[in-house]
Amino acid sequence: MDMTIKTLITGADRGMGYELALELGLKGQYIYVGSRNLACGQAAVAQLEAAGIQAQAVQLDVTDHESIVAAKMSITNLDILINNAGIAVDHETKPSELSLDAIRQDFNVNYFGLIDVTQVFLPLLKAAPAGRIINISSAVGSLTLASDANTSIHKLQASGYQASKSAVNMFTIKLAAELEGTPVTVNAVNPGWVDTSFGGGGGNRTVQVGVSRTVELATSDALTDSGTFSDIDGIVPW
Ligand SMILES: NC(=O)c1ccc[n+]([C@@H]2O[C@H](COP(=O)([O-])OP(=O)(O)OC[C@H]3O[C@@H](n4cnc5c(N)ncnc54)[C@H](OP(=O)(O)O)[C@@H]3O)[C@@H](O)[C@H]2O)c1
Repeated sequence: MDMTIKTLITGADRGMGYELALELGLKGQYIYVGSRNLACGQAAVAQLEAAGIQAQAVQLDVTDHESIVAAKMSITNLDILINNAGIAVDHETKPSELSLDAIRQDFNVNYFGLIDVTQVFLPLLKAAPAGRIINISSAVGSLTLASDANTSIHKLQASGYQASKSAVNMFTIKLAAELEGTPVTVNAVNPGWVDTSFGGGGGNRTVQVGVSRTVELATSDALTDSGTFSDIDGIVPW
């Protein structure tokens, strides 16, 4: 019987998604590299294979239900789903002036897309011995931190993106509650401000640090945490 842990990462062709594929692959997991552009996913897989990792490119646009369903057709077993794909369209825009179109774009990928992918793959995760869902959220979606005038998050002007991550947190709590008593865990992670091309770049953390909490959750033995929001320093307030 093949005991290899099989992991699907959305948005894994670059940024933190690629780093997760690399680190989890090097730890022996079989990686399904989800990418909306198949050629980019195949290029990532070629690099992973060169590093000795077993990986397969899967075309997966999280905003396209047919693409998600087609992706599932090529996967028969899945232990871990990492909902990593994300965008931030609204920058430095006051909430009073934010376009609804920008908010909708953020929500389509970060929230509705994440839910669609999770619902489609949940049957496979339920069939696994210990399914894990890890939602890449952000501390900027923390209502507690955003309402604290002493934090930088209070001053940040990206309320569409921020709300989409608050919504991801709520989905994490509710799905974890629904799955209580089953082997499937559901957790949200804050990577911190990470130096990828996301949001114009310039983050103060390396991708290696940014993915470290997710790698912990994806590799720890007998994970019992569920319904949590955490980063490398511990629990993040909702
Ligand atoms: N970087 C940070 O400081 C930071 C902080 C907190 C949270 N996060 C979160 O961390 C996650 C990864 O961010 P990152 O910094 O690695 O960003 P990134 O380098 O910009 O990578 C984003 C990934 O998401 C993919 N993506 C975008 N729209 C998609 C769609 N519709 N379907 C499938 N994939 C899609 C992109 O694919 P393409 O190559 O096709 O564009 C890319 O692979 C995101 O959820 C983000 O919100 C980032």
